[in-house]
Amino acid sequence: MKGEPLSSELEPAIETPMVGKSVITLDDLSIRQIRELLHKAQYIDSHRKEVAHTCEGRVLATLFYEPSTRTRLSFETAMLRLGGKVIGFAGAQLASVTKGETIADTLKTVSNYVDVVAIRHPKEGAALVASRAASVPVINAGDGGHMHPTQTLADLATLQSRFGRVTNLTVGLCGDLTFGRTVHSLIETLCRFGNVNFVLISPDELKTPRYVLDRIDATPSCSYTEVKDLVSVIGDLDVLYMTRVQKERFFNEDDYLRLRDTYILDEAKMAKAKPDMAVLHPLPRVNEIAVEVDDDPRAAYFEQVKNGMLMRMALESSVVGDELPGYEPLEAK
Ligand code: CP
Repeated sequence: MKGEPLSSELEPAIETPMVGKSVITLDDLSIRQIRELLHKAQYIDSHRKEVAHTCEGRVLATLFYEPSTRTRLSFETAMLRLGGKVIGFAGAQLASVTKGETIADTLKTVSNYVDVVAIRHPKEGAALVASRAASVPVINAGDGGHMHPTQTLADLATLQSRFGRVTNLTVGLCGDLTFGRTVHSLIETLCRFGNVNFVLISPDELKTPRYVLDRIDATPSCSYTEVKDLVSVIGDLDVLYMTRVQKERFFNEDDYLRLRDTYILDEAKMAKAKPDMAVLHPLPRVNEIAVEVDDDPRAAYFEQVKNGMLMRMALESSVVGDELPGYEPLEAK
């Protein structure tokens, strides 16, 4: 590691309010706001009944142009658990996009119905286009191979609960680092917190994009190494973030079949890891984590799922401007 965190140098001088804010990447939130969301999510987890009416009268739209289990259902559960309601579609084949409607027109329309929108789309930049057309906050639920900011919020909450911090960690990211949008969001955000050593584990064909590496290079307190072999580095890691090879983003089926099983984490490999290493995975998994690892206390990926719902509850209530009853802000402490 190259020195002290310089997050303050990377932070925007002016923080914009959470209320009404669209979240397309986590750069839309200050580090202080991310810390506040982490704190809110913890509060929500221990005050489920108290917060159950927070968003009464609110409506969330989930516009999912791409498959999802966790993200869509957790966005929806989050609003329902806060007392609000949900509309939307899962699969664009039932929406007017099939008649040629643009994202902008869809968002101008849906803005009349709801208080907040979560959108997933296969094209990079689609969520930004949506936010510019909408008159309500838009949250990016994944845009192509670009970003997945609310997954990163779930990842940060998991690191916080496992280690009590999100910095001073050696974080291995393994698998499809080219198309894995969760990887890109996580690296960019951890760079803002500072003091993270990244170990980027991938085959040559699936290396981390240059724009993400540039972000690490621009952060004096962070560093990275790129390797192909998981076993040779697993013992150095505090966190192992496994990823699925993103079949849907490959142009060539043969390449996918050749690369999909490059890394399979099993108990034999876990035996070489630190006793408190945390294994994260945004899910869904295919073969890259053997089911036997699920019973290992270091497996944190289903904890991540729960944290995803809690962080989305924190985010949804914040962008619509509804206070959680009894919540004391971090800044007031
Ligand atoms: N982690 C994640 O985005 O999962 P889904 O594709 O099921 O939403």
